[in-house]
Amino acid sequence: MRLRIPAPFDPHVHLRDLDWSHKGTIVSETAAALTGGYTALLDMPNTPPATTNPVALNRKRARFLESARCDWGLWFGAAQPGNQEHFERVQHQVCGLKIYNNETTGDLLIEDQELRDRIIAAWPAGAPIAVHAEEDTVDDILQLVRHHRKYVHFCHISSANELKLLASAREEGLPVSIGVCPHHLFLTRDDLTALGPLGLMKPELKASADRDALRQALGCGLVDVVESDHAPHTLGEKYGEVPAHGVPGLETTLPLLGQAVHEGWLEPDRLAELVSVAPRRLFGYPLPPDSWTELDLGESQLFDNRDLRSHCGWSPFSGMRVQGVVRQVTLRGRQVYDGEQVLAAPGSGLPLTQRNPRVDA
Ligand code: NCD
Ligand code: ZN
Ligand code: ZN
Repeated sequence: MRLRIPAPFDPHVHLRDLDWSHKGTIVSETAAALTGGYTALLDMPNTPPATTNPVALNRKRARFLESARCDWGLWFGAAQPGNQEHFERVQHQVCGLKIYNNETTGDLLIEDQELRDRIIAAWPAGAPIAVHAEEDTVDDILQLVRHHRKYVHFCHISSANELKLLASAREEGLPVSIGVCPHHLFLTRDDLTALGPLGLMKPELKASADRDALRQALGCGLVDVVESDHAPHTLGEKYGEVPAHGVPGLETTLPLLGQAVHEGWLEPDRLAELVSVAPRRLFGYPLPPDSWTELDLGESQLFDNRDLRSHCGWSPFSGMRVQGVVRQVTLRGRQVYDGEQVLAAPGSGLPLTQRNPRVDA
């Protein structure tokens, strides 16, 4: 069976470039996006110079305009000691605000609940907020959602406990959405023995009971979005004294979801919902005309580092056989990936500027 997915959209990637071009560039990582079947993505702000002020934002925008081979939008980052003075000015140039509430790559950690409160209060209603929040921090953020009633997307939810907190937030009617990552759906901490530092990311790999809870939440509709959290680091950085956290994912996510369909824990219709329809609706970006990706569920492939276009050249899924091959990607009526070659030139991707206004609870 060949699945035709309308314009897959990844709302959570780290394309690096700028001061971290050694990890990846917008040219290399948007080639990886098209190879993996994605026509659009939203880039996170934690790559230096962090996207936390208008100067850094303009620099990143200029870089994307000349380099991107697929459509793109940018998250603005909240920063210490508070950068609310920029919010009004940047809100129409970005897809939303990202707040890092636990330790991870970059230096955007905000641990002070009062500062989080001031930041969420200052961010204009109508534009999404996305949070990195793990375990107890999920509850801290939910308190603020309850207070401000602004829409918040919870990135890379990875445990049964976090799901439980968010399920009751949903029942309560809070305006929240949930993203999960393929590595938390397919790997557990038992895989760390074989993967070593290549299995390190934030949030960390969990127990098989957590993985099973995520799979179940995906099927029943509690989870809204599958996001790759594509976060390339060099092999040198992964095997260094202090291993970098993060794994690439743009080229493996859709084939892995094909495998989920094959294994019977994901319906094909849900797949399209999770990687396109829902993220486009939640973050406000309409489907471009004549744009789709063909995922061949009748064919398997063996993931191999040598096939990757991501500059980092490795994947935690290398050596795994999955049922699912990206056959072609068409964007606005033009074939941009033919199953072998990326046909879109750097700079041909469009900025996602026309965000539909949100009506929050
Ligand atoms: C991400 C990175 O390297 O930028 N790392 C990760 O382990 N997921 C940051 C993040 O998403 O927390
Ligand atoms: Zn994160
Ligand atoms: Zn991330």
